[in-house]
Amino acid sequence: MTENKKNPDTLRSARWFAPDDLRAFGHRSRAMQMGYAPEEWKGRPVIAILNTWSDAQPCHMHFKSRVDDVKRGILMAGGFPMELPALSLSESFLKPTTMLYRNLLAMDAEELLRGHPVDGVVLMGGCDKTTPALLLGATSMNIPAIYLPAGPMLRGNWKGKTLGSGSDAWKYWDERRAGKISDKDWVDVEAGIARSYGTCMTMGTASTMTAIAESIGMTLPGASSIPAADAGHIRMASECGRRIVEMVWEDLTPKKIQTRKAFENAITVAMAMGCSTNAIIHLIAQARRAGQDIGLEDFEKASRKVPVIANVRPSGDKYLMEDFYYAGGLPGLMSRIKSHLHLDSLTVTGRTLGENIARAEVYNDDVIRTVENPIYAEGALAVLKGNLAPDGCVIKPSACDP
Ligand code: FES
Repeated sequence: MTENKKNPDTLRSARWFAPDDLRAFGHRSRAMQMGYAPEEWKGRPVIAILNTWSDAQPCHMHFKSRVDDVKRGILMAGGFPMELPALSLSESFLKPTTMLYRNLLAMDAEELLRGHPVDGVVLMGGCDKTTPALLLGATSMNIPAIYLPAGPMLRGNWKGKTLGSGSDAWKYWDERRAGKISDKDWVDVEAGIARSYGTCMTMGTASTMTAIAESIGMTLPGASSIPAADAGHIRMASECGRRIVEMVWEDLTPKKIQTRKAFENAITVAMAMGCSTNAIIHLIAQARRAGQDIGLEDFEKASRKVPVIANVRPSGDKYLMEDFYYAGGLPGLMSRIKSHLHLDSLTVTGRTLGENIARAEVYNDDVIRTVENPIYAEGALAVLKGNLAPDGCVIKPSACDP
């Protein structure tokens, strides 16, 4: 634990457990009903784990057991874990669209935290809308919070060919309709395109939003790039548990991290990654929730000066998130665009972004390009205005046929 430890009597959870009154009697006796002796929670930070696992969420399938790794970290650091199930928004199964429920999960997260005796939170998400939703809720609540990204799934594989989430489904659907592949081929593609738990492994909304969470400073360094099935993901989960306990003692809250500079960093990174256009919708909401006025013009400005250097599909032509991780991951990418970043921004580590990436390297210059040899020289997104869209609209030139 850190030196500047605050007084345990001032913990938020102490309001439930410490007083000598009838209500606190109820809380203590009910904790004991669950088998927890006072020694296990008295004077310790109670850490919520918002878990978006469900039987209908393939991207978060590993959260059912990964939560135990988070708990291990919390216990090791002297905290008391409290897992709270939150709404599970599966991009692939939920109809009519998960976008309808992003704010419902944001409210769910906020109210779960507000209503329970918790001092800090580990947010477990990753599939598209779950990242902005959990961060929106935790920002409103503003107790110490750390984001645990689900991690991308492994590369898809069919007959030795790499398959990418989304894009190859469209491609082979067209091939099938054109009679270029057989019905058996189609079934084999179906079985090979999603080979492990984890989020879509192209640079879609999930990879974009988790990279944004990291560049804002809300994840451990490198956390967003670790494949879900890698043992490093398990170690990262337990480190989230250890770190959140320290964050409670340090009173390191989301609003201290999510400054205007942090959001500018996120926009810069999103451009260099060749981000999904959905980034704009979520990032503006997130920034405004944190009290920062970010608008379309901030994206336009960054787009003009930051080149796309992540050679990850669909902006790139070849690689997927697993390759990006092996090439150095997000810290590697950020090390290449340092001159565009606010390196003094604070992160969940208690250190600055600059300190976090000081030793980052790139191991493959084709996957993470240099700024002199980008995938797309001028920005991932373009903001357009005119009679069809007087308030502005967004296109992704980096993913278009030239
Ligand atoms: Fe969950 Fe794509 S369906 S990330």
